[in-house]
Amino acid sequence: MRIVKSIRAMQALSRQWQRAGTRIAFVPTMGGLHDGHLSLVERARQAAGRGGRVVVSVFVNAAQFGPGEDFAKYPRKLRHDAALCRAAGVDILFTPAAAQMYARDPDAAFSTWISEDNLSQSMEGRSRPGHFRGVTTVVAKLFNIVAPDAAVFGAKDWQQAAIVRRMVRDLNFPLKIIVAPTRREPDGLAMSSRNQYLTGDLRRQAVVLVRTIGQVRQRVRASPKPIDAEVLKSSLRRFVEQEPDARVDYVEFFHPETLVPASRVARGTHMALAVFIGKTRLIDNGRL
Ligand code: PAJ
Repeated sequence: MRIVKSIRAMQALSRQWQRAGTRIAFVPTMGGLHDGHLSLVERARQAAGRGGRVVVSVFVNAAQFGPGEDFAKYPRKLRHDAALCRAAGVDILFTPAAAQMYARDPDAAFSTWISEDNLSQSMEGRSRPGHFRGVTTVVAKLFNIVAPDAAVFGAKDWQQAAIVRRMVRDLNFPLKIIVAPTRREPDGLAMSSRNQYLTGDLRRQAVVLVRTIGQVRQRVRASPKPIDAEVLKSSLRRFVEQEPDARVDYVEFFHPETLVPASRVARGTHMALAVFIGKTRLIDNGRL
C-alpha cells in the first residue's frame, strides 16, 4: 500500500491507471476507521475487480463541520487507519493536507462550492446548516482527484448517499455510486467514529437509536393501516428520552429515494433519527 499526500501525485496516478484501463474503486472517509469503513473497502475491492485499484481517502473536512461541532476533537489516528487499510488490501491511502484542499491565500482564498439544494434541506441539513455543502464540495473535489469508476458510501449516512447520488447525476460525474449496508456492533449500535466519545453508561444508552427503529418496524408491521407520522414521532420522543442522557434532535419518516417526508408511515417507508447521547450526536436509519 502506498500513502499519497499530494493532490498532484494522486491525480497523476489515477490518470495513469485510467489510460491503462485499470478500474478504480474509491472509499472516501474522515478516518477513525472501524469495521463499517472496512466493509466499504471490501465492497470497493469487489467493484474494482481483478487488477483494479482500491483508493481510500482520509481527510477530516473542516468545511462540513459547523461552529461548536467536534472538528477539533474528531479522532485523528492515521497510523492506526493506515494499518487497517494495509491489512484490508487497500492500494492507495490518500491523505491530502487541508492547506492543499482549501487554499487560504488571503488574496485568493478558496471560493467555489457545490451545493445540492433539494435533498439537503431536511434532517441533517436542517440541523447542521452548511454541512452538506461541505460534503458535496469535498466529495466533488475528491472525485476530480481520484477519478474513480465507482465510489462506495455507507447506508449509515442515508441522506448523504442520496445527495451524492443526485450530485453525480446532476453534474455528470462519470462514475457509479454504490451504497453498502450499515455495519453494527453485536448489540445493534451502528458503528461510527463518534462512538469513541461514548464513555461509561452512555455507550449502553446509545443502543436506544436502533431499538427505536426496531420498535417502529414492529408497530408498522402489526398495524393494518398506515400510522400518522406526527403521532408516532411524539411517542418515539418519549421512548428515546426515557434514557437519562438522551435528547432527540429529529425523527423523520420519508420516501427512501426522494426523501420526501411521509405523513403516514407504512411498510417500505424509511426512517432516520438523530439523538444526542450526552454531548455526542448519533444518527441511524432503517427501512420499515
Ligand atoms: P465518515 O463518517 O468517515 O464515513 C465514511 C463512509 O463510511 C461514509 O460513506 C459512511 O456512510 C460510511 N460508514 C460510516 N459508518 C458506517 C457503518 N457503520 N456501516 C457502513 N458504512 C459506514 O461520511 C463521511 O465520512 C464524510 O462525510 C465524507 C463522505 C468522507 C466526506 O467528507
